[in-house]
Amino acid sequence: MDVGRLHETAVALVAEGKGILAADESDGTIKKRFDTIGVESTEETRRSYRDLLFTTPGAEQCISGVILFDETIRQRAADGTPFPRLLESKGIIPGIKVDRGAKPLALAEGEKVTEGLDGLRGRLEEYRSLGARFAKWRATYSITDTLPSDYCVWANAHALARYAALCQEAGLVPIVEPEVLMEGGHSIERSYHVTSRVLTAVYTELHDQRVDVSGTLLKPNMVLSGYQSAEQAGPEQVADWTLRCLLAHVPAAVPGVVFLSGGQSDIDATANLNAMNARGSAPWQLSFSYGRALQAPALKAWQGKPENVEAAQRAFYHRAKMNSAARTGMYAPEIEREAVPV
Ligand code: 13P
Repeated sequence: MDVGRLHETAVALVAEGKGILAADESDGTIKKRFDTIGVESTEETRRSYRDLLFTTPGAEQCISGVILFDETIRQRAADGTPFPRLLESKGIIPGIKVDRGAKPLALAEGEKVTEGLDGLRGRLEEYRSLGARFAKWRATYSITDTLPSDYCVWANAHALARYAALCQEAGLVPIVEPEVLMEGGHSIERSYHVTSRVLTAVYTELHDQRVDVSGTLLKPNMVLSGYQSAEQAGPEQVADWTLRCLLAHVPAAVPGVVFLSGGQSDIDATANLNAMNARGSAPWQLSFSYGRALQAPALKAWQGKPENVEAAQRAFYHRAKMNSAARTGMYAPEIEREAVPV
């Protein structure tokens, strides 16, 4: 395993002012997103939507890498260039989602384990030949009064580490994504405790399975109040709890933490990331790997119509720029209003 090369790629993915676009929605998820704008999900509508995002002029100033879905890594831009090659030509690193989704965990009512390890070594080899330089695997954990169970926490940590080891062996940087879901009425303190348990298990398994964390990135949830809770923590509190949690559990050798947005509004996801970077003393780069929080305004502007492509690209570029500002703690709500020409 060439750890030096893996480390270099990981560092490039969290380069100053840049973050990752998660555009790896599975067929089911992208259909849900398209349903919100009344667009039918077909191979061609999915292709043209991703084309719009990847060809946005200037996106490479703020986007270091893009996570693709299996279908997308095999598709081409309108001019015939394969998507991975198009991204590379802009200096954007192509990545690939390799898990096969969260499925019910046996004998554990209400809990899930992520599948996709069978045959993974062969799939990684193929993805690398198609141009991928990093990968993603997402595990999910629900919070209730009694969940997640230790069983769920450790089963998912074990699978995440097996995935990460296979990626490193194949020369791909593993993005390790344990997502504690924020649905529920729980407090931010409960969020903190559950996230702490999850990260403890993840780093124990990564260590036991010989993963070199200097060639990985962590993609965690931010520590938030449950979305249905009457009391909602603001950016300063979110920064306090999230940083406290990460500092206690994430080795300093990890080059970067790339948060998921997890259903926060696009503005909240930017403001919370900004509050953390404004503190200025974390041992890792604090960046983003957003799906919804980067794409929502673009999707809305697009509406599936070719004549709206430019407006959608402007919307995407604007969100990318705002999050780029949040990478250095320079974001402020006022800059949302500044016109951003593409
Ligand atoms: P969201 O930012 O929409 O949560 O998506 C990120 C992601 O890649 C989830 O796996």
